[in-house]
Amino acid sequence: MTGETVAFDIEKGIAWVRFNRPDKRNCMNPALNRRMMEVLDELEFRDDVGVLVLSGEGSAWSAGMDLKEYFRETEAKGLGAIRKAQSEAYGWWRRLRWYGKPTIAMVNGWCFGGGYGPLFACDLAFAADEAQFALSEINWGILPGGGATKVVADLLSMRDAMYHALTGELIDGRKAAAWKLVNESLPLADLKVRVTEVATILLKKNPIALKATKDAIRRVAEMTYDNAEDYLVRAQEAANSHDNEGRKEGIRQFIDEKSYKPGLAAYDK
Ligand code: ACO
Repeated sequence: MTGETVAFDIEKGIAWVRFNRPDKRNCMNPALNRRMMEVLDELEFRDDVGVLVLSGEGSAWSAGMDLKEYFRETEAKGLGAIRKAQSEAYGWWRRLRWYGKPTIAMVNGWCFGGGYGPLFACDLAFAADEAQFALSEINWGILPGGGATKVVADLLSMRDAMYHALTGELIDGRKAAAWKLVNESLPLADLKVRVTEVATILLKKNPIALKATKDAIRRVAEMTYDNAEDYLVRAQEAANSHDNEGRKEGIRQFIDEKSYKPGLAAYDK
């Protein structure tokens, strides 16, 4: 199915969602931001979607915010329009950070500035060696806003974050992986195969446990050990109350049936 600014297909449990403004290097204008929220809404609770992958059509993943439509034209309309455009962009990134299904950024090409918001929002990220990343804000005279500074401060070392933000220099997928901005980088020709492999691993896991786990990783990062311990007890008990028969089945197949070992693989759903 194709919208004007966002395209998606669903195949074997994976929703392949794509920024779809290749002529504009998939930079995010208000129309794309609005459409992406609709697409996320539409896909989140579908039974035929277990994992969402976000990539870009053409040579870019996303060239960040649309400097013409998101900045210049919006600013010309005044503060109300600026705040609305920000809330539309930040809104879908936030939605993606706490998405009901696991999410993977498949970074096929250019990734700039505002693109770091959705990059961080995805639970996992795989990049092409050939992809190019930069916080280019400094090159046109602003600080990396919209969360981009927070993303590099959280993911990179202080020295790498500072260098990246102050120089605006490009790094390729390999360096992005070395800096832990993404999980892995591999040749573009192999990228989709690897992402499909990882998505297929996730599709075999208990979906309630996946959602509880991904939220827990993000939440406990900001907690003391004691608070984390308490949160995790409550989160597991909340997950148990979600009609989560799978958990009991997981124990049954190991203890009674002896058909698998949880240390080595997932139970048969
Ligand atoms: N905002 C608005 N238009 C853009 C953007 C953008 N972020 N990125 C690309 N485009 C447009 C270009 O203006 C051009 O439009 P046109 O065909 O109407 O002239 C079209 O997309 C293609 O871009 P080219 O520059 O011709 O493509 P090329 O492949 O040579 O270069 C590159 C790609 C390096 C991504 C270049 O387009 C670029 O530098 N884009 C801006 C990247 C950037 O700094 N983004 C902002 C980050 S800061 C933030 O997001 C807050």
